[in-house]
Amino acid sequence: MPGIAFSQKQPPQLGKASIKNVIAAMSLDEKVNFVKGIGMKVSEGANGPVAGSINGKVMGAAGSTEAIPRLGIPAVIVADGPAGLRIEPVKYGNDSTLIYPTAFPCGTAFASTWNTDLVDKAGRAMGQEVLEFGVDVILAPGANIQRNPLCGRNFEYYSEDPVVSGLIAAAFINGIQSNQVGTSIKHFAVNNQETNRNAIDAIVSQRALREIYLKGFEIAIKKSNPWTVMSSYNKLNGIYTSENFDLLSTVLKKEWNYNGLVMTDWYAGKNYPGQLKAGNDLLMPGRANEPTKIKEAIDSGSFSQEDLDKNIERILNLIVKTPAFSNYKYSNHPDLPANSKVSRSLASEGMILLKNNNHSLPFQTKKITLLGNASYDTILGGTGSGEVNTTQKVNFYEGLKKAGYQMDEQLSSSYIAFINREKAARPKRLSILEAIKPVEEMYVENKQLQNLANNSDVALITIGRSAGEGSDRSIETDYLISENEISLIRNTSEIFHKNGKKVVVALNIDALVDVVKWRDLVDGILITWLPGQQAGDALADIISGKISPSGKLTQTMPLAYGDVPSADSFPGIPEERPKETYYNEGIYVGYRYYNTFNKPVAYEFGYGLSYTTFKIQKPTISSKNFSKELRISTTIKNTGITSGKEVIQLYVSAPEKAMDKPESELKGFAKTQLLKAGASEKIDFMLNASDLASFDTERSAWVVEPGTYTIKIGNSSKNIQQTVSFIVNQDILVEKVNNILAPQKALVELKK
Ligand code: BGC
Repeated sequence: MPGIAFSQKQPPQLGKASIKNVIAAMSLDEKVNFVKGIGMKVSEGANGPVAGSINGKVMGAAGSTEAIPRLGIPAVIVADGPAGLRIEPVKYGNDSTLIYPTAFPCGTAFASTWNTDLVDKAGRAMGQEVLEFGVDVILAPGANIQRNPLCGRNFEYYSEDPVVSGLIAAAFINGIQSNQVGTSIKHFAVNNQETNRNAIDAIVSQRALREIYLKGFEIAIKKSNPWTVMSSYNKLNGIYTSENFDLLSTVLKKEWNYNGLVMTDWYAGKNYPGQLKAGNDLLMPGRANEPTKIKEAIDSGSFSQEDLDKNIERILNLIVKTPAFSNYKYSNHPDLPANSKVSRSLASEGMILLKNNNHSLPFQTKKITLLGNASYDTILGGTGSGEVNTTQKVNFYEGLKKAGYQMDEQLSSSYIAFINREKAARPKRLSILEAIKPVEEMYVENKQLQNLANNSDVALITIGRSAGEGSDRSIETDYLISENEISLIRNTSEIFHKNGKKVVVALNIDALVDVVKWRDLVDGILITWLPGQQAGDALADIISGKISPSGKLTQTMPLAYGDVPSADSFPGIPEERPKETYYNEGIYVGYRYYNTFNKPVAYEFGYGLSYTTFKIQKPTISSKNFSKELRISTTIKNTGITSGKEVIQLYVSAPEKAMDKPESELKGFAKTQLLKAGASEKIDFMLNASDLASFDTERSAWVVEPGTYTIKIGNSSKNIQQTVSFIVNQDILVEKVNNILAPQKALVELKK
């Protein structure tokens, strides 16, 4: 009968019908609900509040899209974050095993390896967890530039340099997405501080924007095509990035050919239809009043249904790729033992040896004195959405003990008791965003230090720092080393040195700290960053010499905070509650500033010691005259007596014609394989015109100016071992782009 046939007719189904037909079958109510997430429930987790489950699944995930079952559209689940999958450790149904994700080292540690193969491998491991824990998209990586050492989220980010940020992010994304799950590169863009992050207006020149703040995203997006991009909270030159058509549609979608999905950061921005219209396809995590506002905008004609359909199309294009859509039967059992090994090797390879007088490391003894709260309460990761809730944790003390180090157990017990007491006295954590600051350093009497010096061969002191989203770091309590910490370092050094014994400091830090005030007191300094769940094992690997350090700084360590080029403008004005922040250092961020203006630093960009030594041989260049591409080849040899890996860095000094040029800029890097003593490896770099181009604001174009270019190859931005030059005969206009995103306020930028 016709009536029955009509009621049985199924509406178009996603995957079977075309996406256009599926959209056409949606009612307006379905549409305006679909461009927002399902909202965020907060429930009580083991350590305070956590994001709730998504319909009984994936406890701790950050959000989900709306399902429309009648059209065959499933919900897609998204979860944080850059250091591992942020879900809650729980047991589901009849499965009696507690499931938990692997906590990898923080983003800065990833980048400090300068090893894109290893980052890809860690991405694969993390992506497997995304898939097997029932998540579709992980909200990572964080690719903002580390503009200032006080940014509270620096630990999630990679570098002060866009090439490092972009290449590390690309490797991470490719690794994760090889599991057929998605990523969300964030926070697009110019989200370089947490102070007033929901309203701050970053005032940046077009050149600094293109060359520094957008460049890393551009590299990563072009090399790895992340499934999604997350816009940021802040304003950029007067307009919220999440409502910024020029940024999201013109630059990202048109100029960079990005055809994935853009989502907002959680509860970002104010004008919801404006966000959708700008090219922000999905409003996250979804607020109850959004559909009404969107409908109002459609009724008033300020937002069109055609534009809404484009947002929906991009959401559906994402959904059809997801495990949720293919109804993947996730196991809740990824290969955690294998992944913990990856986490451990990344942690050790991300550690940076800053100082090693008279071979204080590796330790030639097993009898050590272990000092500093963070040795026993090691900070494995930062807080906020970047925190990973693993139950598998090896702090420094435990890792060293496992590796056979003998430590004074009375001392260990007093540290542990002290830390537990101090922590128990703290008020309960009330919000996911509440940072957990380290406990004030325990005092150790000189008499006890003397006793320890008599009974051990060397002292290892750990200094810890933690941070998280929602607030920035402070100079006094985060950047500077406290009085208690300095006295511990000073007293230990005096007493141990008198006994002919060395002292090494491990910096278990989220971001840069001052080293200048105390570095002369000690024999060795190792930055461990926030090393993830296998922290202690990774530290033991380095201090025992099982692994030679090969991490390098991806940020410059200044002599003093005041030397940082953005020190005067961070976090903005007015001081009480900054509304605007002027990026008046322009393109001179990090080493581009210090090296150009000959500012001495504590440790330069790219720096890091090894237990062995390397020599870079004279490079060959495919041509002395640049036309389209150049190949630069060199060989690196391990000239020391132990195995190790080295990072070869290629910088270019460009001639200065119409544009200001930094002294040199990183254009490529490579990490060697593990080279045995005496072994060599050949390294090839390719340079094309866009690698060499600077952004010419006048022409709104990427331009290579004519003249002599010098390639500088070394193992830090200062330790250049080889140079070779080539000539560009005439001006090359590489790409003309849209003249958009200009500051609306007067900005006086630093120039040479
Ligand atoms: C953070 C994002 C995160 C999101 C979801 C926001 O507060 O800025 O990085 O992905 O929350 O947890």
